[in-house]
Amino acid sequence: MTTIFSGVQPTGTVTIGNYIGAFRQFTELQHESDCLFCIVDQHAITVQQDPEELRRTIRSLAALYVASGIDPEKAVLFIQSEVPAHAQAAWIMQSISYIGELERMTQFKDKSSGQEGISVALLTYPPLMAADILLYNTNIVPVGDDQTQHLELTRVLAERFNRRYGEVFTMPEIRIPKNGARIKSLQDPMKKMSKSDPNKKATISLLDTPKEIEKKVKSAVTDSEGIVKYDVENKPGVSNLLTIESAMSGESIDSLVAKYEGQGYGAFKAGVAESIINHLSPIQEKYYELLESPVLDEILDKGAEKANSIASVTLQKMERAMGLGRQR
Ligand code: TYM
Repeated sequence: MTTIFSGVQPTGTVTIGNYIGAFRQFTELQHESDCLFCIVDQHAITVQQDPEELRRTIRSLAALYVASGIDPEKAVLFIQSEVPAHAQAAWIMQSISYIGELERMTQFKDKSSGQEGISVALLTYPPLMAADILLYNTNIVPVGDDQTQHLELTRVLAERFNRRYGEVFTMPEIRIPKNGARIKSLQDPMKKMSKSDPNKKATISLLDTPKEIEKKVKSAVTDSEGIVKYDVENKPGVSNLLTIESAMSGESIDSLVAKYEGQGYGAFKAGVAESIINHLSPIQEKYYELLESPVLDEILDKGAEKANSIASVTLQKMERAMGLGRQR
């Protein structure tokens, strides 16, 4: 059976970008594969977090995973810091990573530029991500396209380890959705929609109210042409909204373009907002039911136990292959 692994950082509230790029793939894949989904809290602390807020967002993300359709009977859902093998394997992966290749990562360059006191962990984030993936003998990693470079590095590191120390790792493949691999900011359609965007009008979170969604879509940047057409280069704002509506409603972009023919952006934006509200309302309902429920803790306890049992075996193979400790 194919093994699927992916992770989401518990920072800010999950956006419809995360949902369309990643979560949607998770729920599709869980029926046909062994799936593990992780709340990567150790990745979150590569930038300073408020402890209370971090605790809250970890739980919130766990509830959102389940509310958006992850079936805990089918998939393993767990918190990264509750499986110690991740940090242990990350150290090993750091020992085979080169500073130059980590400094070349665009996410590192973006997050560190203009900042003072950049943490070492921001630089060594990709070896931890490689450890996450490789510990579970993962075949496929469903992500949005901003993770492509990290996935390529994971493959380079896996290959390097296998060459030096013997075949321990399975080579993972990336899986990016055909549509919606990079949902754009509503305020700047040249930029990706990001959880950490300080401009709240730029993102729609999975927990936004219908009023907030309507307002944000209404103020989304488009163009002055007034024609609803899919043309990413010349009409990035309109194309982004079409991608969002298509993902939310399940209708093809062609049929949406036909639906809005002859209508202005007012009607178009109202339709986009409606599709988002309709799609998110059952997710939100389930989310609030789960958030304070002990069921969520049971799911996470079971998930950590299962993840630990798999990850510790791979970690032991890694250590043994490298000659660490005593022969076991
Ligand atoms: P994170 O938390 O930034 O994002 C979670 C997932 O959402 C996708 N995504 C998007 N997809 C489409 N449009 C967007 N605007 C958009 N923004 C984000 C991301 O590609 C991702 O799939 N490094 C990862 C977390 C991670 C991980 C892993 C992922 C840690 N270990 C192992 C896979 C496997 C991250 O920061 O994702």
